[in-house]
Amino acid sequence: MDTRKVVLAYSGGLDTSVAIPWIKENYEAEVIALTIDLGEGKNLPEIRNKALKTGASAAFIVDGRDSFISDFVFPTLQAGAMYEGVYPLATALGRPLIAKHLVDVAVREGAYAVAHGSTGKGNDQVRFDVSIMVLAGSRKLEIIAPAREWDMNRETEREYARKRDIPVPEKKGRVFSVDENLWGRSIEGEDLENPWDEPPEDAFAWTKPVAQTPDSPLFIEVSFERGLPVALDGEELGGVALIQQLNRSGGEQGVGRIDHLENRHVGIKSREVYEAPAAVMLHTAHRALEAMVLTREQLRIKERLSQEYADIVYNGLWYSALRQDLNAYFQSTQRFVSGAIRLKLHKGNCTVVGRRSPYSLYSFGLATYGKGDSFDHRAAKGFINIFGLPVKNQAEKQPYQE
Ligand code: ARG
Repeated sequence: MDTRKVVLAYSGGLDTSVAIPWIKENYEAEVIALTIDLGEGKNLPEIRNKALKTGASAAFIVDGRDSFISDFVFPTLQAGAMYEGVYPLATALGRPLIAKHLVDVAVREGAYAVAHGSTGKGNDQVRFDVSIMVLAGSRKLEIIAPAREWDMNRETEREYARKRDIPVPEKKGRVFSVDENLWGRSIEGEDLENPWDEPPEDAFAWTKPVAQTPDSPLFIEVSFERGLPVALDGEELGGVALIQQLNRSGGEQGVGRIDHLENRHVGIKSREVYEAPAAVMLHTAHRALEAMVLTREQLRIKERLSQEYADIVYNGLWYSALRQDLNAYFQSTQRFVSGAIRLKLHKGNCTVVGRRSPYSLYSFGLATYGKGDSFDHRAAKGFINIFGLPVKNQAEKQPYQE
């Protein structure tokens, strides 16, 4: 009989490296390592070699950057979805894309199982498992999550690695648990586990502390077409390049740090710190443009559904009919979300200082208190009479009391 094959989502870090021999020993299977590049800037040939040296029978690298931005990040930006109002969902958006490639490779290679490095306490295992279940459909595909199954702690894991010649990173100072991609960097663990303590400076890698940011502000003009960012300062850019540039410029100005006490799907409250300059800037700009082109009622309904959408993404239901339905609604809301927003970045703040759109609902004639006022002031009286009618009628019959 041929050896059974398992496709492992491989990051090159200690956990997924240890997973290679662990799966081989515990499942009597060969391991195919699969690394998806989501723009973390990692050394991919090195990761591939490490997988093979660690015992993988094959190692594949897939460039997932364009698809990540256009199929996952941008629809979420258009939806205005931030989990609990603050987290732009970087990690949550990466998982369903990785799951898709895991299933594709498993089918292509005739593997009986896929594997990932998530633990039993987090959201990521839910996102992986549920996505894999949906994408596998009626095919039989098992899911192995070594870190959820093995009984190792940090120390015994390092010991296990040493015995098998897996390079163990030397523990110099704090070792945060980090997940990163183009849309943001998620940081957990170490000193962050005490919610009273300010995140230490070495938790951050993309953003400067305010004290080290320039004294003069930086202005950036972001242009949108149908809710998608298409240019910076008038220069057209593809999604990946645009986000990379915003991460750099925002990071320089200290923009994009988020410190959140978060409700995980599994019921645990957790202190989560994020760096997401591009995400913060694009959400800020996109929201400001919508304020100009959507009506009050469109904005209200959209805000409610944004929250639902964020929960769906966070909870691992990317591949659900409900998310597709909501996405169709959000796409419809973006028909006139075209125009430009001027952002001012200064000392960690990102503020909107200018907006314009060919579809703007802002009417100078209606709004102005100066010359050119076209509003019919006398018409207001009739409007108020009718608007106030029900409460006036009620007060006559049921005198208002404190
Ligand atoms: N709390 C975030 C989420 O659930 C980030 C998780 C990041 N994972 C990590 N290994 N640091 O999406």
